[in-house]
Amino acid sequence: MNYLKLFSPATVANVSCGFDSLGFAVDTVGDEMTFTKTKEKGVKITAISGANLSYNVDENAASAVVKKILNEANADFGVSLTISKGYAPGSGLGSSAASAAGAAFGSNQLLGNIYTKLELVKFAMFGEEVACGSQIADNVAAAIYGGFVLIRSYEPLEIIKLPVPKELRLVAIHPQVEVKTKDARAVLPAKIDLKDAITQWANVGGLISGLYSEDYQLISNSLVDIIVEPYRKKLIPHFDEVKNAAIKSGALGAGISGSGPTIFALCKGDEDAKKVHSAINKSYKKTGIEFTLFTSKINEKGIKILESN
Ligand code: HSE
Repeated sequence: MNYLKLFSPATVANVSCGFDSLGFAVDTVGDEMTFTKTKEKGVKITAISGANLSYNVDENAASAVVKKILNEANADFGVSLTISKGYAPGSGLGSSAASAAGAAFGSNQLLGNIYTKLELVKFAMFGEEVACGSQIADNVAAAIYGGFVLIRSYEPLEIIKLPVPKELRLVAIHPQVEVKTKDARAVLPAKIDLKDAITQWANVGGLISGLYSEDYQLISNSLVDIIVEPYRKKLIPHFDEVKNAAIKSGALGAGISGSGPTIFALCKGDEDAKKVHSAINKSYKKTGIEFTLFTSKINEKGIKILESN
């Protein structure tokens, strides 16, 4: 393969109770990237659209990953890269992760598919470090594996792909305020009460069980975050109003997508998703803060190849 164009999805990390360990991929929102083999070794970004990102190969999460993977594989070619961002960086929908995961996946295709998905996640985690200073796996793993994923262990890295209940729908609102992942991590406590830990890990277990058994009531009962959300919601204007509006209009649950400011709601079926979409729209219009709002299925495939030759 000498060229490919791919779609790398946005992702919702944490999914309420699973801080740094759960995530899922979004079907309709994401980035497009192209990868072209060059005779000259090294990486070059030739175009970036949709966001104001660095063209510096070592500072851009995507090119940094391409460079690392080509070096480690001792590639005898280089790559010219274009990035078209389909949504805003800093949204809490895994923007740097989409770029980093896409970069790992795309480079691997040009190398003849020599790395496993798990290895690609490790390369993509390096991109997350370049973008936000931490090697977090929940967004990149969701983008690469698709569907829901559990990061069962970081050392050694172990990822479990979880099933997606057929009728599950996402409604997500991105208020146009900036929340940096670094800042959203800095507000978190270093220690938590055992009582809270018990509640939280029981909810993670409940959510995973609900995904396997397609038990929407159990999913709803388990979409609770008593550890991270109370601290981070203060960074998101009108969070409680949105969450209440979503749940009152039929959402199974709602919470912060990744480190925010996007707020996500999960719903059962298109009808409920429509109602939740409209309730959130109505509630946020009153605030005077600009926002974008979308409804999507869950992406079960992860990164998709759009063109290749
Ligand atoms: N799990 C991470 C967090 C996702 O919530 O900080 C953001 O990269």
